[in-house]
Amino acid sequence: HSEVARVRNLSTIILGEHIIEPWYFSPYPIELTEEDQIYICDFTLSYFGSRKQFERFRSKCSMKHPPGNEIYRDSKVSFWEIDGRKQRTWCRNLCLLSKLFLDHKTLYYDVDPFLFYVMSIKSKQGHHVVGYFSKEKESAEGYNVACILTLPCYQKRGYGKLLIQFSYMLSNVENKVGSPEKPLSDLGLLSYRAFWTDTLVKLLVERSNPQLFRKNATLSSDNASETARTPPPGGKQSGGILNGNTPSSEITIDEISSITCMTTTDILHTLTTLQILRYYKGQHIIVITDQIMTLYEKLIAKIRDKKKHELDPTKLSWTPPS
Ligand code: COA
Ligand code: NA
Repeated sequence: HSEVARVRNLSTIILGEHIIEPWYFSPYPIELTEEDQIYICDFTLSYFGSRKQFERFRSKCSMKHPPGNEIYRDSKVSFWEIDGRKQRTWCRNLCLLSKLFLDHKTLYYDVDPFLFYVMSIKSKQGHHVVGYFSKEKESAEGYNVACILTLPCYQKRGYGKLLIQFSYMLSNVENKVGSPEKPLSDLGLLSYRAFWTDTLVKLLVERSNPQLFRKNATLSSDNASETARTPPPGGKQSGGILNGNTPSSEITIDEISSITCMTTTDILHTLTTLQILRYYKGQHIIVITDQIMTLYEKLIAKIRDKKKHELDPTKLSWTPPS
């Protein structure tokens, strides 16, 4: 683990129009790390030790968006699917850049086994990378995300949650459940917990109150509109949703899992953290507490007031790579 001991080796990077201070070491070529600042083209992700070299490159560079296929576009963001084997240099450059903000060891050179899902926003110049996640082409552990990053100049504005939402949209098309690769960083864990909480709060409240569901119906809850089914007799993880004092609908953890594509482990963990999983009259139930209703109302208000962007699964045009 010699890399862990290596200290941050760059003081400033200029990425397109952004000036960014790196957090951690990244193995950029030694000639470059001797410079005070390095310049990175935010379309090709190639790096330069001087402004002059960078500008010479930019004057000839015609790239206006990430490579690969644009598989999603809405009014705010696009997503591009990039095969590490087909776009080796670009993906290695992306890994070098992202290592500046990732503490743990990541692979920089062996990008072939991964697909990269890159989120971009549009300006007059083109589609600029905001963040991405990588995904193993074959994950024996069932991970749907390997590495995930929002570039620091775009952090804490909800983009991380969009990346996570997208990863579950892909799992949904694949008809699989998924979970991010462990260990997660502190920021990664915070973001996932926040996303899982939003997802479960929305699903459970709308499920327990069909009227609310109809009022706030959105695409991400489409699956939830099926009528509530009674769990199979003796079903191990069955639980009713207790709303006020009357269990008004029933849902199993497995059903929540197939609707959200979250693993049962991640679901149970989130429900436990929210303190809404109770043992009642001999069975496990989920209690819609006042605290959950408050979370729900805040979430709906953010979506309604356009303070929170949500991806639209109908805008995804993607079939799982074979
Ligand atoms: N401090 C406190 N909470 C934070 C936070 C911070 N610095 N950054 C994110 N969060 C929480 C927020 O509570 C937010 O939830 P909310 O919307 O309910 O308030 C949630 O995480 C998601 O925030 P969001 O703005 O969507 O995420 P982001 O665009 O900042 O991206 C990461 C999140 C993890 C992708 C980003 O921090 C990052 O790239 N970190 C470095 C790389 C990394 O650690 N990746 C994960 C391991 S592979
Ligand atoms: Na946010």
